[in-house]
Amino acid sequence: MDNSTIALILACSILPIYSITIQVPKHPRIVCYYTFPNQQYNLQPENIDGNLCTHILVAFATILNNSVSISQENVEIVTKVVQLKLLNPDLKVLLSFGGGGDEYGFPEMVRNESNRATFIKSVEFAIEKLNLDGIDLDWEFPSNSSNKGHLVELLEDLRQSINNSAKKYILSVAVAAPITLVDVSYDVPAINRLVDFINVMSYDYNFFSLLTPWTGMNAPLYARSIDIFYFKTQNINYTSIFWIKKGMDKNKVNIGLPVYAHTYTLRSPNKTFLGAPAIGNGKIGGGGSASYGEVCKFMKDEKLTPIFDDETKSPYVTNGSEWISFENDESMKFKAQYIYNNDFGGVMVFSLSSDDYNGDCYGETFPNTKIISRIFRR
Ligand SMILES: *[C@@H]1O[C@H](CO)[C@@H](O)[C@H](O)[C@H]1NC(C)=O
Ligand SMILES: *[C@@H]1O[C@H](CO)[C@@H](O)[C@H](O)[C@H]1NC(C)=O
Ligand SMILES: *[C@@H]1O[C@H](CO)[C@@H](O)[C@H](O)[C@H]1NC(C)=O
Ligand SMILES: *[C@@H]1O[C@H](CO)[C@@H](O)[C@H](O)[C@H]1NC(C)=O
Ligand SMILES: *[C@@H]1O[C@H](CO)[C@@H](O)[C@H](O)[C@H]1NC(C)=O
Ligand SMILES: *[C@@H]1O[C@H](CO)[C@@H](O)[C@H](O)[C@H]1NC(C)=O
Ligand SMILES: *[C@@H]1O[C@H](CO)[C@@H](O)[C@H](O)[C@H]1NC(C)=O
Repeated sequence: MDNSTIALILACSILPIYSITIQVPKHPRIVCYYTFPNQQYNLQPENIDGNLCTHILVAFATILNNSVSISQENVEIVTKVVQLKLLNPDLKVLLSFGGGGDEYGFPEMVRNESNRATFIKSVEFAIEKLNLDGIDLDWEFPSNSSNKGHLVELLEDLRQSINNSAKKYILSVAVAAPITLVDVSYDVPAINRLVDFINVMSYDYNFFSLLTPWTGMNAPLYARSIDIFYFKTQNINYTSIFWIKKGMDKNKVNIGLPVYAHTYTLRSPNKTFLGAPAIGNGKIGGGGSASYGEVCKFMKDEKLTPIFDDETKSPYVTNGSEWISFENDESMKFKAQYIYNNDFGGVMVFSLSSDDYNGDCYGETFPNTKIISRIFRR
């Protein structure tokens, strides 16, 4: 029994009903992605604070020829992440497959039983060899009906092999937040039956694209009062509740919070409001995204004060034609508190590598992840 409250109802035929509530400490998950170092997000494994998270999901390995594919360099990084368990024995380390921008061998691997068996064999080999606690599947996205079914078949085969193996490794899935994608991609009751938990990618609700050439929040907690139709559903609150309504147990749901920012170039430096016309990605960071460290340094250098939008519980900052949606201690507090108060299974953070891991902002490392950790572990 891992959640919240035990209520003892003492009923008696004459007297009214008394209820005594005993508060049991909650143990929500803090599931942190850690992405392999690259030029922009260059966190080295030895600099990870292994006490901030309950689970670290090392991202991303891929699937090649129906098997686990990971470079020797990245194997060494995984090994160093696993070594964080020496300092925090409760920490769980999972290897995550897939990621954004490609389907990374999922469609071919899931399509028949023998391909899936090949994959599962190589997963079990990797778990053994790297001393992992589990795997996470981040297929973006199984977006047609046959792939939707194949994902369930894969999870069934994995669950069966976990049942039959001595090591009960953890099985998790990273899933989309937008409700249209949820309906197309996931058989929610089946997933609920087969996984230990899901990580809802409740971010990227807005970013610059030619179809949406205006500024918006990466991860609004709630809708704005001016939102209509589909736009009303594009926020953390709506999509989290949607997953529960579709059949996911609340205690298996980790709600994702981004630490990275989305950047825009405004059409006019005189129109800087939330929803203002934009013509492209911003200059800070790269490819329209930036780490919290980069945004923080930018604000410091230019002496900028962010504007907090009370409806979405999110800040933005603007300078000339640059416009940035990001997260700070204020937004993190609201969002983490929402997840905690509503008794979800936990929070997911994407990612440790985009937090201010060097402490360039306030001299404190991982400031955004630390806020979550403090709220979840009191
Ligand atoms: C793919 O896997 C099969 C069976 O596991 C193997 O025979 C084949 O050589 C592999 N192909 C490549 C390109 O690695
Ligand atoms: C679904 O997508 C896969 C590629 O990911 C494709 O091979 C398959 O034909 C599609 N199935 C349907 C029913 O559209
Ligand atoms: C499974 O699919 C692969 C192609 O990915 C094919 O080579 C193989 O023959 C199929 N196996 C079965 C049993 O259908
Ligand atoms: C795995 O084991 C659980 C409980 O022991 C059982 O309910 C479930 O049906 C099994 N699943 C598979 C796919 O074997
Ligand atoms: C949160 O979502 C629920 C369900 O969609 C809705 O009833 C509620 O009004 C939302 N809360 C806020 C503050 O928007
Ligand atoms: C912005 O406003 C200033 C002062 O009102 C004006 O001089 C300038 O032309 C405007 N710039 C643009 C790009 O609209
Ligand atoms: C911020 O705006 C000022 C004034 O428009 C400009 O001089 C400066 O280059 C901008 N900084 C960046 C990093 O874009």
